[in-house]
Amino acid sequence: MKKSTIITFAIAGLMLSFASQAKDATPFKPTATIQQIMSSIVDPNIDFVWNSVATISTKDGVEERSPHTDEEWAEVKKHALTVLEASNLLVIDGRKVAEDGANTASSGSTELQALEIQKLIKTHKSEFNQRAFGLHDAMQLVVKAIDKKDTEELIRTGGLVDKACESCHLQFWYPIRKSK
Ligand code: HEC
Repeated sequence: MKKSTIITFAIAGLMLSFASQAKDATPFKPTATIQQIMSSIVDPNIDFVWNSVATISTKDGVEERSPHTDEEWAEVKKHALTVLEASNLLVIDGRKVAEDGANTASSGSTELQALEIQKLIKTHKSEFNQRAFGLHDAMQLVVKAIDKKDTEELIRTGGLVDKACESCHLQFWYPIRKSK
């Protein structure tokens, strides 16, 4: 083999190893678990958005609750944007599902354990990402409704968000319920 050919192969080999290193390296530092992102970021903030609109039946009739002032709409938007961007946190590779020994069961015995969820996400990462982007896209519609100060639209798109949460939970958190 000519010397120049050997050098070419050596360079190609080096480039390949750099390329695979670059693929493994993530520029992010995922620290909180998915469970912590759910309970500290996603859940409290989407509750604020969902609770900002409601139709309440009282003995005096039907009361429509919704943001009224510009400040109230702006406040709802802050919480909506927080959930919207939290969807990207879910996509980052290398995040743990829960702290060791944490309980992932909420209402009973149909939820998977953290390690089972972790495995499921690993083998279906692109589907998991799609579910996260589903939340992202539904939240974009929510933000549009807020920008238009459109209460009806906020209620409708809030329902789409609920479906986006549920579609990920059904595949990755309690798939057992789906098959029942
Ligand atoms: C891309 C996937 C995904 C999406 C989208 C998602 N979740 Fe989750 N969520 C999970 C996984 C996985 C768990 C199970 C781990 C755990 O117990 O936290 C979970 C658990 C939870 C929990 C339980 C947290 C705890 O203390 O154990 C809550 C509450 C929750 N999600 C709320 C929501 C809400 C509300 C939305 C939508 C606004 C949402 N999630 C969207 C993946 C997702």
